[in-house]
Amino acid sequence: HELAGAASHTSGRARKGNSLREAIERETDRPMAKLGWLASLAAAVVVVVTLRSPLAAAQLRPGYYASICPNLETIVRNSVRQSMAQSQISAGATLRLFFHDCAVRGCDASIMIVNSNGDDEWRSPDDQSLKPQGFQTVLDAKAAVDKDPQCRYKVSCADILALAARESVVQSGGPNYQVELGRYDGKVSTKSSVVLPHVDFNLDKLNAFFSGLGLSQTDMIALSGGHTMGAADCSFFQSRIGTDPTMDSGFAAQLRGTCTSSQSSAFLDPTPLGFDNSYYKNLQGGRGLLGSDQVLYTDPRSRGTVNYYASNQGTFFYDFTVAMTKLGRVGVKTAADGEIRRDCRYTN
Ligand code: HEM
Repeated sequence: HELAGAASHTSGRARKGNSLREAIERETDRPMAKLGWLASLAAAVVVVVTLRSPLAAAQLRPGYYASICPNLETIVRNSVRQSMAQSQISAGATLRLFFHDCAVRGCDASIMIVNSNGDDEWRSPDDQSLKPQGFQTVLDAKAAVDKDPQCRYKVSCADILALAARESVVQSGGPNYQVELGRYDGKVSTKSSVVLPHVDFNLDKLNAFFSGLGLSQTDMIALSGGHTMGAADCSFFQSRIGTDPTMDSGFAAQLRGTCTSSQSSAFLDPTPLGFDNSYYKNLQGGRGLLGSDQVLYTDPRSRGTVNYYASNQGTFFYDFTVAMTKLGRVGVKTAADGEIRRDCRYTN
């Protein structure tokens, strides 16, 4: 099937090439017209190069679907509201899903692809703890969008995920921001492509990972504020209890009581359903849950930003929206290498 598609593309290009050549040949005795052709040929080359370069992200814009699907944002907002009413953990799960999507192969909803051979991102060890409620939030929003005849099969899963992540933040009390749109969905998902930061990363490793995505240390600290929502399994922090001197002793005692079975989990901050700056205040008290959280306060190079966000929620909110927008530009696909998936779980 793919080969047949490739063949028809090739013959299409050849046809276009022939007619272009014929046109140029017709015009050869008129030097000015020939120059005109050369100019439009050059322009076409520029367009193709722009589409294929990493700068393709530059074409993302908030109004991308304004005429294609004018009610898109309202539809997603209402659908996410329903998902959050159905399950309290859906907002955190959806925000995390967006990060895990963008960090691997770019923001192309490749995290949602289900491959029949079992080799796909979501079944990799690092994605096993993603909660089903995040996936369900996006699938439900996609179904709601496709119920609108104007929008049907015209909005990418990648864009719906970006919008659903924003709604999860806003409807939990966090900052509002415009979401840039126009992403295409990826066609590839494999376990081996999944590379994500781990809880034992120090500041240098965290910075190296995020700089690979084009994000700064400040972006990384602001995005880590996403841990103002949700919970973590004890397996991710148990080894710190009683051994990590940067953990508050009262907090350690509390966690020892919580982690009595391997199935247990603890909230990432004291207000796990609300989006606020208590995550940073918590770090100041040695009550960060994950090693990668607490190190942001322990390391003097990032402590200043943690202190700033802890005392200034407005700045954290603003920096978070800037960083989410930058995260949303990572590895964006275009019509040249993506598609608008009909079912977010399967390539078309
Ligand atoms: C800095 C590196 C990061 C590391 C090492 C990390 C690691 C983790 C781990 C281990 C969990 C617990 C998973 C579980 O037990 O279910 C978690 C949860 C979570 N992470 Fe991160 N994360 C990082 C960055 C981020 C970013 C950038 C965001 C989004 C902006 C994010 C959003 C979340 C959310 C919302 C949860 C709670 C999920 C839930 O309750 O379903 N994380 N993270």
